[in-house]
Amino acid sequence: MEKILVLDFGGQYNQLIARRVREQHIYAEIRPYNKITVDEIKAEGYAGVIFTGGPNSVYDVNSPHFDPAILSAGIPVLGICYGDQLMAYMGGGKVDSAASSSEYGRTTVFFSESPLFAGLPAESVCWMSHTDYISTLPEGFTNIAHSARCPIAAMSNDARRLYGVQFHPEVTHTVYGRQMLHNFLYDICGCKGDWVMERFLEQSIEKYRRELSGKKVLLALSGGLDSSVAAVLLHRAIGHDLTCVFVDHGLLRKNEAEFVRDTFVGHFGMNVIIADARERFLRKLAGVTEPEKKRKIIGGEFIRVFEDEARKLGDVTVLAQGTIYPDVIESGKGDSAVIKSHHNVGGLPERMAFSQIVEPMRDLFKDEVREIGIQLGLARELVCRQPFPGPGLAVRIIGEITAEKLDLLREADAIFREEIAHANLDTAPSQYFAVLTDLHSVGVMGDARTYGATVVLRAVTTDDFMTAAWTRLPYDVLEKAGSRITNEVAGITRVVYDITSKPPATVEWE
Ligand code: XMP
Repeated sequence: MEKILVLDFGGQYNQLIARRVREQHIYAEIRPYNKITVDEIKAEGYAGVIFTGGPNSVYDVNSPHFDPAILSAGIPVLGICYGDQLMAYMGGGKVDSAASSSEYGRTTVFFSESPLFAGLPAESVCWMSHTDYISTLPEGFTNIAHSARCPIAAMSNDARRLYGVQFHPEVTHTVYGRQMLHNFLYDICGCKGDWVMERFLEQSIEKYRRELSGKKVLLALSGGLDSSVAAVLLHRAIGHDLTCVFVDHGLLRKNEAEFVRDTFVGHFGMNVIIADARERFLRKLAGVTEPEKKRKIIGGEFIRVFEDEARKLGDVTVLAQGTIYPDVIESGKGDSAVIKSHHNVGGLPERMAFSQIVEPMRDLFKDEVREIGIQLGLARELVCRQPFPGPGLAVRIIGEITAEKLDLLREADAIFREEIAHANLDTAPSQYFAVLTDLHSVGVMGDARTYGATVVLRAVTTDDFMTAAWTRLPYDVLEKAGSRITNEVAGITRVVYDITSKPPATVEWE
């Protein structure tokens, strides 16, 4: 299979670069610049290498550098932004810094004739984000683009198939970015485009059928996209040798357990154990109000329930997980601050003695997982689901969790989701839900005074959930949801809408 290496120098668009390459049907891998050598790059047989951007200046003592031998390895290289400057620096060129040269945002760039710019007009808008710039070209390179403030906006050495661009072709604001990447991948690297999802699916099913033959496989099914796709894919490969365990911890949305049963047992005919652990979780959570403590208890108890079910099954040796590519990249990055300990089934392999772990989607991005899900026949409703946190409604109930509060929140949340569905919005928010606060306030119903709970409605719009804007929902939708909640859910007297973005707030309230 053809593949491209995205050599990561710490820029913010690195995953985007890999996705843009894959959109053009070529498999791309992201590797940190200090975790791979030139010899390994050669041995892996990459068709081309892309140096990403990064926040540093090439002259900083601690800035990431790379072995200049990569430029003589005979492999085409495209350097983007910092990657472009690094190529210049490695080849003996000069990089300077001047406030008068900095460019941020949409910038008109003028192109010269180059294989990288084949099919482009003489000028067009590109996305710039830099202060440093290349002031002297490295030996053997030609200047192939400029802007009003940047004299060398792109450079090339056609004979050695080395290219650098100061702007970001991966960002959609670069009008011809897609065409430039296409030129690099197909014309310069000589790729043919063999990364297609249908083939990936067939090959994976074939591979797991062979590899897992005669083995018993266990998978923790959450009902979310990733574990659902992993489950259905493996079911296609090995049928009833796959057992899924769905832990009903009682912190689920309304009708969630039924939905999982109908989909996976009813529709796909899979082996699914639905472990009813509702009482068990409530007991453990009694009296607990601190968010991180709730998460820890739920994570720990989840593993214990799963272990109990696995023990009952006996001879299971393989654990399957719905890990996807961003999980793999992120876990390799290490030391970013823990804002919230996100609960997933990550603790399982360490605790339990499995002889093998399979992660069918560990090379895929989220949108690719969706595509596979659709090909596997999963309902759009499931494939396009909004994310739901592992600790479920526990992090949407402020304060202690009780069965009564869970019931109130489940009803309010279901009404809000129904109203958003009925509204048929052009673009639905990325995530939307209700939160039950521990705040009580006075209300009036008929002629009587009431004193009930306050529910918050939250809806956010985002691409990556790292940042998010609060969604400008139509007033009519908010009005309808608010009045239905106070009318239909006894015990709730007030409904408010959350207008904080992330940052400063997080998406979830806890
Ligand atoms: P925050 O609240 O950190 O959420 O802005 C970002 C995204 O992550 C989801 N989230 C979680 N998912 N376990 C999960 O599996 C968790 O503990 C958890 N906390 C937040 C959240 O729903 C949002 O999509």
